[in-house]
Amino acid sequence: MKKLALAVSILCLTATGVAAADDPIAVRKAIMQANAASAGLAGAMLKREIDYNPVIARAAILTLAASAKTFGDYFPDGSNDGDTTAAPAIWENAEGFQAALDKYVSDTAAAVEAAGKDGPADLPAFQAAIGPVFGNCKSCHETFRIQKN
Ligand code: HEC
Repeated sequence: MKKLALAVSILCLTATGVAAADDPIAVRKAIMQANAASAGLAGAMLKREIDYNPVIARAAILTLAASAKTFGDYFPDGSNDGDTTAAPAIWENAEGFQAALDKYVSDTAAAVEAAGKDGPADLPAFQAAIGPVFGNCKSCHETFRIQKN
């Protein structure tokens, strides 16, 4: 019985993996949602709604950096069609989109560097490290995301 249960759970895992790989729109939205959650957490600390904690600050920065590295992999041809707000400009201006991705990767990498092993020491250090990352959200969305009201 144990073996069967294991086999079933492995099957389920595989099925989930395949479904995710088959649905790039769902994957890239999930990445953006993790992005938004980290940005929200960072914002709450910067606005002093929650206490500053360097470990949490570093986790938020690392999540943003990981998302920046993977996000661009989920825009295959044809994935402009579906339940998505990805703008046609992503495919029509692929070079421009790549440039926006590259900037996001380098700005988040700089934040990781600034955060160091223990996270930014205090709130001003955190603000200095993550501030440049936030500009990317707006500038990329303006050009490469359909604005829905
Ligand atoms: C390089 C471009 C780019 C950057 C940088 C970027 N985004 Fe996005 N974002 C997109 C695109 C494209 C979509 C639309 C994805 C889709 O619907 O397929 C999106 C969608 C979203 C969504 C909606 C996800 C959903 O479930 O529909 C949120 C929330 C979001 N982004 C937040 C952020 C935040 C916060 C940042 C900055 C920390 C950020 N984004 C940075 C391109 C970007």
